[in-house]
Amino acid sequence: MNEQFKNDVLEGLSSNPKFLSSKYFYDKIGDDLFVQIMNMPEYYLTNSEFEIFSKKTDELINSFGIEDNEKFELIELGAGDGTKTKELLKALVHKGADFSYLPVDISQNALNLLNADLQEEIPSLKVKVRQGDYFEVLSKFKAVDVKKVVLFLGSNIGNLKDEKSAEFLYQLGGNLNKGDILVLGVDLIKSVDIIGPAYNDAQGITAKFNINLLHRMNAELGANFDLGEFKHAPHYDEEEGIAKSYIESLSDQEVEISALDKSFIFKEGEKIHMEISRKYNDEIISKILRDTDFKVISKILDSREYFADYILRKEA
Ligand code: AVJ
Repeated sequence: MNEQFKNDVLEGLSSNPKFLSSKYFYDKIGDDLFVQIMNMPEYYLTNSEFEIFSKKTDELINSFGIEDNEKFELIELGAGDGTKTKELLKALVHKGADFSYLPVDISQNALNLLNADLQEEIPSLKVKVRQGDYFEVLSKFKAVDVKKVVLFLGSNIGNLKDEKSAEFLYQLGGNLNKGDILVLGVDLIKSVDIIGPAYNDAQGITAKFNINLLHRMNAELGANFDLGEFKHAPHYDEEEGIAKSYIESLSDQEVEISALDKSFIFKEGEKIHMEISRKYNDEIISKILRDTDFKVISKILDSREYFADYILRKEA
């Protein structure tokens, strides 16, 4: 059994207010639900960033500042199925660029699938998959004296509080050299009419995604959550620019978690905080970058201006 999961659940459910970490969403069922989320009409993030990668490919490539015949490594953190990246890879191969593609992921299975797919679709592409934790993998790359372009897409950074993002980018910078590039894909602050439905879809997929963590605790920690006695309760505040998700108890109830040898009381209407999905603007980005060596060199938007890929360069 995963000790870290156990300890985090104990800490989160013993706190007031209660919380759980969104990093535990991604078990087998959660991965599958997240793929469904990315394909929902309300979840505009996927289409917006895909549009940038497919229609603004040249602008993206030019922003990397690669010299003619300069060799480089294109590293992607959390590669997923590579749908967006394939647009970029095809354009680079077409231009005759001298590069390798290094997708990094915690899941060897995801990497194997991606690799097989790329062999088939872009046979001349050099792919070197790297399984592991981002920083573990990156620390091995630093010694290689080749220019690096790192992709961190999909607003994945948005699950972190701003202080944690700043720390993450500072550490990431520590594993790169002067002149290296980071492409940071982030969702932008906009009206609740657009953001609300992306995190509260009509089909209830996001609700299932959230509630799945209760199911996971039942399966892995011997808990007895009654899934019908809780509901998905999302919230977005335009002023703050953060979509938050909660699970709300529908009654006064007690839940036992046998792996913790403990029970927890939930009051009717009590909420467990599950996830933040931060939305950004220039001001927030520059605040996060303040103590790092990254400088914004350009920003590429989709046609609706919902999403941005910030192009950052390591300056020192
Ligand atoms: C994978 C973190 C980018 O916050 O938009 C989607 C996760 N949560 N719907 C996001 C998520 C609910 C997603 N990220």
